[in-house]
Amino acid sequence: MQIQKSYLLLAILLFSIVGCNPKTKQAEQNPSLKKIFKDDFKVGAAINSQQLYGNEPEAVKLIKEQFNAISPENVLKWEPVNPRPDSFDFESSDRYVAFGKANKMFILGHNLIWHKQIPSWVFHNNDGSLADAKQLKQRMRNHIFKVAGRYQGRIDAWDVVNEAVNADGSLRQTNWLKIMGKEYLPLAFQYADSAAPDAELYYNDFDLYKPAKRQGVVRLIKNLQDQGVRVDGIGMQGHWGLNVPDLQQVQKSIDAFSDLGVKIMISELDITVLPRTKDMNAANLATGYSMVHGLDPYKNGLPDSIQTRLANRYAAIFKLFHKNRDKISRVTFWGVNNKDSWLNNWPKSGRTDYPLLFDRNNQPKAAFDSVVKVVE
Ligand code: GLA
Repeated sequence: MQIQKSYLLLAILLFSIVGCNPKTKQAEQNPSLKKIFKDDFKVGAAINSQQLYGNEPEAVKLIKEQFNAISPENVLKWEPVNPRPDSFDFESSDRYVAFGKANKMFILGHNLIWHKQIPSWVFHNNDGSLADAKQLKQRMRNHIFKVAGRYQGRIDAWDVVNEAVNADGSLRQTNWLKIMGKEYLPLAFQYADSAAPDAELYYNDFDLYKPAKRQGVVRLIKNLQDQGVRVDGIGMQGHWGLNVPDLQQVQKSIDAFSDLGVKIMISELDITVLPRTKDMNAANLATGYSMVHGLDPYKNGLPDSIQTRLANRYAAIFKLFHKNRDKISRVTFWGVNNKDSWLNNWPKSGRTDYPLLFDRNNQPKAAFDSVVKVVE
């Protein structure tokens, strides 16, 4: 009798943990992207401060369940880490690295040298004039050694230089280039190599499917390689849309970069369903629906037809990645769920976009199912 009672209590307990809690059940039933693609490439997500500080437990649960690589959405950029000369704040980035370590994830450092999200003191003197090459070189060196050096042996790879090339393939006229000349590029990689010899070193940029930009990046990396500079990989960001890019162009870039002997990552994947502001005139809006409903057409929900287009687009994109699994080492989404995506606020703030695989309640979308099916 006593034994039967214990069994009954145990059964009730188990049922209350597993059976009655729909969220637990849901989470347990999700297939896991990192498991599905485990023989192909790592699958990652960019994580934000809210998640790092435990304010979004459902999203954090998803990160642990789905991904084996993380990127810091913002916490390792120059501005938060080194806001004033000789003033470093590593609280959030330490938390980021500890999270990755605790969950045995591939930890990306993003990024060391970029022209955005960088404080003005880096490029300017107190009187507002531009710093000179010697000063800027010293600031670059100091930043890279402090930041990459701090995480040597813990951060697995760095986006050393972000977005240095224009659409036409020429070098972008950033303050780095204006002040230091093109020597800033090999120097950044050399400093990173010395500060973090165990980390992989990457070049990262957007629109790398475009032929002229592809050629510009090939020239850049070849040039660095010719100088004996270590570059281990190229990150193709992947802020894409329902129709753009043409996946044949993506394939051409994968081939061209892989011919350089470097790894390829899809480093910041998301697929916007919204019209872009530069296409504001109605004739150019992305879909018939948005022509009628304007620039924020889906604020009350995504029509099934667009949900299906997004799912099909994700399927086609992942088919391409899977086909190139010998060349692609990681595919990272720029965010976890639709709610937190930067695309809700760019290029126009306050819109409602649906670019990721999980919805605003962290539930898998049709696009998630279609990605899962790619390998089945
Ligand atoms: C670029 C950067 C990222 C991020 C996105 C938009 O792609 O590399 O760090 O800022 O823009 O959020």
